[in-house]
Amino acid sequence: MTRIITVASGKGGVGKTTFVSNLATALASFKKSVIAVDGNLTTANLGIHLGIPLYPVTLQDVLNGDARLNDALYYHPAGFTVLPADISLKKLRLADTHELVDVFYKLVGGCDFIIVDAAAGLSKEALSAVEAADELITITNPELPALTDALKLGNLAEKYGTHNLGVVVNRVRGKDHEFSMEAVENFLEMPILGKIPEDDAVGRSIAKKRPVVAHSPGSPASQHVMSIAARIIGEDYKPKSNLSYRLFNWLK
Ligand SMILES: Nc1ncnc2c1ncn2[C@@H]1O[C@H](COP(=O)(O)OP(=O)(O)OP(=O)(O)O)[C@@H](O)[C@H]1O
Ligand SMILES: [Mg+2]
Repeated sequence: MTRIITVASGKGGVGKTTFVSNLATALASFKKSVIAVDGNLTTANLGIHLGIPLYPVTLQDVLNGDARLNDALYYHPAGFTVLPADISLKKLRLADTHELVDVFYKLVGGCDFIIVDAAAGLSKEALSAVEAADELITITNPELPALTDALKLGNLAEKYGTHNLGVVVNRVRGKDHEFSMEAVENFLEMPILGKIPEDDAVGRSIAKKRPVVAHSPGSPASQHVMSIAARIIGEDYKPKSNLSYRLFNWLK
C-alpha cells in the first residue's frame, strides 16, 4: 500500500526540502520505492537540491493538461523517482487540493511512498499539500517561533483529517537556550520522530547538489535521517557514533 506523506513546517526555511530529498534517499536505501513530489509550485527547489533544476516536463505541465504524468517522472541516481515542479516564472501557478489528490491517485500503487515537499508557511499552497496527503511529518527547529507555527500546522492537519505522524526537530545544536526534545514533545503534543543535528555536511552536500545521505552517509545528519526513515517503516537502525565518523574522515 502506498503511503502519501507531506512534509510541512509552518515556519519557512526550517529544512523541509533538505529533509524530503534525504528521507527519499534513506527510504530507497531500505529498498522502498519512493516518489518525491515537489509540492512547492511557487518557489520550487527540490530539483535544485537534487542537482537537476531544469526538468523538461514538470508538475505544472501535468496540471495544465500539457503533458502526461509519466512524462514528468524522473529516476534520480540517489535511488528514487522525482516529480519536479517548474522553477520558471512563466509557469507560476498553484495546485489546489483536488488537483493534487488527482495526481496522487494516479501514482498510488506504483510505489511504497509518495513524499511531498510542501511550500513554506501556512499558505493555501502549503495546506493543500497537507490536506491532499494521508500523513504529515512536521519539521521544526528547537526554537519558539518555529514551534509556534508547527503547533498551528498540527491543529490544521487535525481539521483536515491528515494523520500527524510526528515531528522532526532539525538543526539541533544542543545549546542551553534550545527547547529539549521533551519540551518540544510537551509543547506540540506530537510524538518525536527524531532529531537532526546542525551539521556542516548538509551545506556541503547541497553545494554538491546531492542529498547528504548519499554524499556523506556517515555524517551525524545522515545517520539521524536514516534512523527516522527506519522508524517510519518500523525497522531498527542504530546510528553510527560520531566518533567513528570523525575517525573515518581523519583516516581518509
Ligand atoms: N541539519 C542541518 N544542518 C545544517 N544546515 C541545515 C540543516 N538542515 C537544513 N539546513 C540548511 O537550511 C537551509 C534551508 O533548508 P531548506 O531549503 O531545506 O528549508 P525549507 O524548509 O525547505 O525552506 P522553504 O520554507 O523556503 O521551502 C539550507 O540552506 C540548508 O543548508
Ligand atoms: Mg523548501
